[in-house]
Amino acid sequence: MANQKQHCRGLGLVGLIAMAFASTLPAAQPAPRSNGLALTPPVGWSSWNNFGDDINEQLVIESIDAMIANGMRDAGYVFVNLDDGWQRHKGARKDHPLEYDPKKFPRGISYLADYAHQRGMKLGIYSGPGQTTCAGYTGSEGHEAEDARMFASWGVDHLKYDSCCSHREAPKEELQKIFRTMSNALMSQQRGIVLHACHCGWGDIWEWAGALGVNHWRIGQDISDDFNYPGNREQYYFDVLDQLDRGVGLEKYSGPGHWNDYDMLIVGLDGKSKQLVGTGASNIEYRTHFSLWAMVSSPMLVGADVRKLDKYSLETLTNKEVIALNQDPAGNVAHKVRDDGDLEVFARELADGSHAVLLLNRGAATATMTFSPRADLQVPMDRYSIRDLWQHRDLGTYDIPFTAEVQSHEARVFRIRQLSTSANGRSVSDAAEQGSVQ
Ligand code: GAL
Repeated sequence: MANQKQHCRGLGLVGLIAMAFASTLPAAQPAPRSNGLALTPPVGWSSWNNFGDDINEQLVIESIDAMIANGMRDAGYVFVNLDDGWQRHKGARKDHPLEYDPKKFPRGISYLADYAHQRGMKLGIYSGPGQTTCAGYTGSEGHEAEDARMFASWGVDHLKYDSCCSHREAPKEELQKIFRTMSNALMSQQRGIVLHACHCGWGDIWEWAGALGVNHWRIGQDISDDFNYPGNREQYYFDVLDQLDRGVGLEKYSGPGHWNDYDMLIVGLDGKSKQLVGTGASNIEYRTHFSLWAMVSSPMLVGADVRKLDKYSLETLTNKEVIALNQDPAGNVAHKVRDDGDLEVFARELADGSHAVLLLNRGAATATMTFSPRADLQVPMDRYSIRDLWQHRDLGTYDIPFTAEVQSHEARVFRIRQLSTSANGRSVSDAAEQGSVQ
């Protein structure tokens, strides 16, 4: 799908430039407007899921240092995003200016932006279109141009603009207006700033946000630290499988520069977050969550305390072969290609013509799952190689469907590549191994 879209690279950030892509998109979908940014989903860290508004300069510096020391930065985690709570004042914007809290951030936000930039990373910040933000700090209402200028002057690279508390019931036209206003204000700056529209997936935001220049938008309410919580936790929070299910059918709205956002990662929270509800998930479940977010091209912002990740969580988060799926330049989004109750198969094509395949077992017992490139991908693949992206192992050559054991709540992720066929076009079956992978 993404291959059908063109994107304006190196656009220059001045002016209001809308791209006319309509001819290559389905008629009902307005053309995305590109600021030339987020051509692959943003990957990094965000302060909210673990710390809530209890953030400060020292935490951010220590987190940057930790991400460099533990290999996260080099695995692709370059965004370091301050969420709500960096502001000085609580209360309405009409009564207070928007300033950083000098007690929490004694050297200011530009100091942190410089600190990040000097280390090859980027800094993100948070605001909202209301008088106040979700946590009650001053918002940007009526001061959008001024705030965009201020963020740009600080060297900010990413803005999470959160309307789900201030405009929960607003009609679509009003929502479009507030995001258009901030998008225009950001695009008027010399500095490129990625725009995240956080509106909990309400107002069918995926249908119109891309056309306003928004780079990613949440498709659901806040994630909770749960893999599969029965029901809808506190009638608001979505667990991992809820978020996943919510995205089915929305794939066509996502692509380079404009992504469906399944909310921040919960890997490593282990039910101990200061902020997020939830009792935590098992190592396998967190790994499954990570694999799924990579497959569906969601932004991947780690919410855990990166200074204290255990070995398993770090190994999960720094699997470069899985991150490469998320960052694949074609920007395709995995589709659910098979749904057999608790057993589901997701697949996507990658830029080099290979395919990523994920076998998900939502059930309570280990299952044997089968995958057929011909039937499931509708690709006439006679002979293909398989690589297991968690075992980091080539599994051999196949010319029949392959089967794999998948534990309860596990996702196995494979990259399969078509191999040449013989001169007469028939598959070379004598090279094939058994059709079962370990
Ligand atoms: C919520 C948002 C969270 C976090 C919080 C900050 O609306 O969904 O991700 O940003 O506000 O107050």
